[in-house]
Amino acid sequence: MPKAPWWKRAVVYQIYPRSFADATGSGIGDLVGVRERLEHLAWLGVDALWLSPFFRSPMHDFGYDVSDYCDVDPLFGGLADFDALLSAAHDRDLRVLIDWVPAHTSSEHPWFVEAKSSRESPRRSWYVWRDPGKDGGPPNNWTTAFTPGAPAWSLDEPSGQYYLHSFLPEQPDLDWNNPEVVEAMHAVLRFWLDRGVDGFRADVIHNIGKPEALPDVDPKLAPIPHCALNDEPQTHEHLRAIRKLVDAYPGERMMVGEVFLLSTEQVAAYYGRNDELHLSFNFPPLFAAWEAEAWRQCIEKTAQSLDPIDAWPSWVLSNHDNPRHRTRYGSEARARAAAVLLLSLRGTPFLYMGEELGLEDAVITDAERVDPGGRDGCRAPLPWDRSPTHGWGAKPWLPWPPNAGDRSVEARRADPHSMLHLYRKLLALRRASPALSLGTFRLLPGADSVLVYERRGGNDRRVVAINFRDEAAPLELEGPLEVELASDGHGEGSAFGGEIGPDQALILR
Ligand code: GLC
Repeated sequence: MPKAPWWKRAVVYQIYPRSFADATGSGIGDLVGVRERLEHLAWLGVDALWLSPFFRSPMHDFGYDVSDYCDVDPLFGGLADFDALLSAAHDRDLRVLIDWVPAHTSSEHPWFVEAKSSRESPRRSWYVWRDPGKDGGPPNNWTTAFTPGAPAWSLDEPSGQYYLHSFLPEQPDLDWNNPEVVEAMHAVLRFWLDRGVDGFRADVIHNIGKPEALPDVDPKLAPIPHCALNDEPQTHEHLRAIRKLVDAYPGERMMVGEVFLLSTEQVAAYYGRNDELHLSFNFPPLFAAWEAEAWRQCIEKTAQSLDPIDAWPSWVLSNHDNPRHRTRYGSEARARAAAVLLLSLRGTPFLYMGEELGLEDAVITDAERVDPGGRDGCRAPLPWDRSPTHGWGAKPWLPWPPNAGDRSVEARRADPHSMLHLYRKLLALRRASPALSLGTFRLLPGADSVLVYERRGGNDRRVVAINFRDEAAPLELEGPLEVELASDGHGEGSAFGGEIGPDQALILR
């Protein structure tokens, strides 16, 4: 097998720090909490963790509105806590990726405060300011995220100009056409690389480049938030410079970008010629229905769009922005089959904390809702044990997910047939099998509702079959095959008998 960088072989685990583990008893998770729970990740067998933002922030977007990129918000601890977490993770051979939010800052960031202070401010041009449009309204027809149809612009009354915000008004877009901005954001990367992080998850990275003229979009597209449309050549130029910066550090540092463009062809372009992003998220599969045909199409599209040499795929089913796939797919049996799919495709899988427990979204009442984007359900806290406080010191900032005690880490670990043990087995199998980790991928003929594929690496071969329906299906496969792993545990260790169970996924060898 060719030598591959660690991130091609890795399984990455996303931690949303507010909701992972609370060491201080504040009801909000923190960095000491993460450090104290690293044992869970090491036991599970993931290779890396990605921490969602823990930087200083007024928290209008729960940390994706950064007011100091080079400090830890006191809610989560301090820089010393981060350093201790990083070295504890490295001691356990876990790599650490942090979230870099380069497209916008908080409106409380000193850069924006200064920019807003007057039209003549030397920092004015760090952000995107424009005079009102002809009718005195916003300068163009771009719309913002979170509030459907609302302009991506807010008027700053004292100066009479509008500033651009692809997200909340509290998240002004930086102007990457200004070389000073580029340099300042590069300095942020260096700050954390020098501290020893293994890489970054780059937030809405496709949104950094914008044409000077900021033209209207086709009015038919205008209701789509502009952040889901922005796809400009400038971004690729910026990414090539970022890639050089990251690659200049020793130890295979990397960047996975959030490219929130819902076309895999567009996403593919962000790998460049292996000189832009190391990895890119690709969200169409996350939005696909749990149907064999939909997944067959996503898989084929990925294989066709990504350059076989220059681009390595990534796969993700859940994150902090979307309902969990356990909730979307509607049953634990399906979520188990989905785990087999996610961890046996060709590419780097990203797990979202709690999916290994089979957590569902919390039910959030109107009174409990805090996120402007309505994403609270998937951000519910992680239950660690069966006790009434589930290992948290105080009542957490969001309600518990359903059945928190039975689905806690403690309860799931005690049950060898649990979802948690299935994830652990899959991770171990993937790590031990050259076919599953780095091997080739080929779709095989299956049945209507059954997706079948082969992974091959050297002499190592696996066949994976996923039944998307809750009815058993006959399945003809070549050669004598043994069931190495079954999502429901049935038949493991015996010869494959020509039938796949309802909602079952199998790894055969
Ligand atoms: C990304 C983040 C999301 C955030 C947005 C703005 O999509 O994942 O949580 O609200 O960017 O920063």
